[in-house]
Amino acid sequence: MKKFFIRTFGCQMNEYDSERMAGILLKGKDYIQVDSEDKADFIIVNTCSVRQHAENRELSYIGRYVKNKKVIVAGCMAQNLKEKLLNLFPDLYAVVGTSNFSSIAEILDGQNEKIFIKEKKDIYSVEFERKKKVDGYITIMQGCNNFCSYCIVPYVRGREVSRPYEEIVKEIENMVKQGYREVTLLGQNVNSYFDEKAKINFPELLKIVHKIDGLLRIKFMTSHPKDLTDELIDTIKKGEKFVKHFHLPLQSGSDKILQLMNRKYSIDEYLQKIEKIRKDIPAVNISTDILVGFPGEEEKDFLDTVDILNKIRFDDAFSFKYSVRKGTQAEKYGDTVDEKEKLRRLNYVIELQRKISYDINKSYIGFETESLVYGISYKRKNELKTGTINNKKVFVRGEKDLTGKLVKVKIKQLRGDSFAGILL
Ligand code: 5AD
Ligand code: SF4
Repeated sequence: MKKFFIRTFGCQMNEYDSERMAGILLKGKDYIQVDSEDKADFIIVNTCSVRQHAENRELSYIGRYVKNKKVIVAGCMAQNLKEKLLNLFPDLYAVVGTSNFSSIAEILDGQNEKIFIKEKKDIYSVEFERKKKVDGYITIMQGCNNFCSYCIVPYVRGREVSRPYEEIVKEIENMVKQGYREVTLLGQNVNSYFDEKAKINFPELLKIVHKIDGLLRIKFMTSHPKDLTDELIDTIKKGEKFVKHFHLPLQSGSDKILQLMNRKYSIDEYLQKIEKIRKDIPAVNISTDILVGFPGEEEKDFLDTVDILNKIRFDDAFSFKYSVRKGTQAEKYGDTVDEKEKLRRLNYVIELQRKISYDINKSYIGFETESLVYGISYKRKNELKTGTINNKKVFVRGEKDLTGKLVKVKIKQLRGDSFAGILL
C-alpha cells in the first residue's frame, strides 16, 4: 500500500478538488490516506494563487518536503507557474494542472511526464468516494469569464464551464445515500451557471436540487453582484431547504475603484440588490469580500468603503490587501498604495467589521430557530455543532445520534463568531 497525504491551501473549490483526488485514489485499492506528512510516501499540495502571500507559503511548504518525499503540486499555482516550479524544485514528482485532478491515480502510478497540464472538459465526471459526513461541497462550474482586473482566477482556472445538471444531481443523490444532508454548490460565479444542452440556469438548477429527497439544506457560493437576479432571490426565498445566506463580494465602496477593477456594477446597483434581498428574506445573512489598497485607491476612496460597510452592515466580511498578480490587467496600473498604508486600511476594515459582526450577532441572542446537526463538536466532546437556516453556527449539549437531523435550538450566548445555545 502506498500512503498519500494531501495539504490544501485556498478556497472551498480547492477543498472539493482535494476530496475528489483523495476519493479517486481511495477507490483503487493501492493507496491509503494518512494524516501527516511524516507518514506519507506522496504529498499532494493543492495550491492557491489568488495572492502572492499564498504562493509564498506554498513554496516554502514544498521546499520543506521536496527532498525526502514524492511531492506533487496541484491546482492554481501549478497552473500558474508550470515548468518554473521544476526550475525551483527539480526533485518534484509532478505538477498537475487545474483541469487534471481526475488523472491523479495515473500520475501517482508513475508516468513519464513531470508536467501534467492538459486541456480537459470532463474534469468532474470521474466518480470518487467521499468521507462520511453531513455537509459537503460540490463544484458546479469551473473557471471564470469576468476578468476582474486584479484577479488571476480566469488565467489559472480558465473560462467558465458549467457541469451538466444531471451529473450534479447524480452526485448529490449519491451524497444523500451516504448520509449527507447538506450540500454547498460551488463556483467562482454560480449566478452565471448555465447548462447549455438542457438550457438550465442557476435558479432552475437550485429548484431541481431542492427536489432531492433526503437532502435538507442547500448553500451556494460565490455570487457575483452583477449577475444576482430577482429570480434567484425569489427562488431562495421560497425554498425551505435554501440557506438564507448570500456571499456577495463588494470589493470596494468607490465607483471609481469598482470601474478600475472591472466589476461591472455601481455602488447604487449593489445597494439596490442588498435592499431587495433584505426586504424579501427576513433574517438573511449577507457577507462580502473587501479588497483594500487597489492601485489608485486614495484616502477618499477608502473612506467610501468604510462608509458603505457602516451603511450596509454585513454579517461578515473577508478583507484582503491588494497583491499584484502577473498577467492581470491591474498589473499595468502599478502598485500605488504602499505596504504600510495597505496594512493600516486592512486593519481598520477588519476592526470595523468585527464590531459590526459582534453587534449583529448579539441581536440573535434569545432567537429560536431550526438548526442542522453536523456532529460532535471538535473542541467540546459533549456538544453538537449545528448550523441555522441563516448560516450561523450554534453549539448545543446533545447526543451523537442527532447527527444529520434538524433540531430546534435557542441561542443563548455569543462565543467568538459562533454561538452557544440549548436544544428545545
Ligand atoms: N489581491 C488581493 N486579494 C485578491 N482577491 C482576488 N484577487 C486578489 C488580489 N490580486 C480577493 C477578492 C476575492 C477574494 C476571493 O480574494 O476579494 O473576492
Ligand atoms: Fe476573480 Fe472576478 Fe472571477 Fe471572482 S468574478 S474569480 S474576483 S475574475
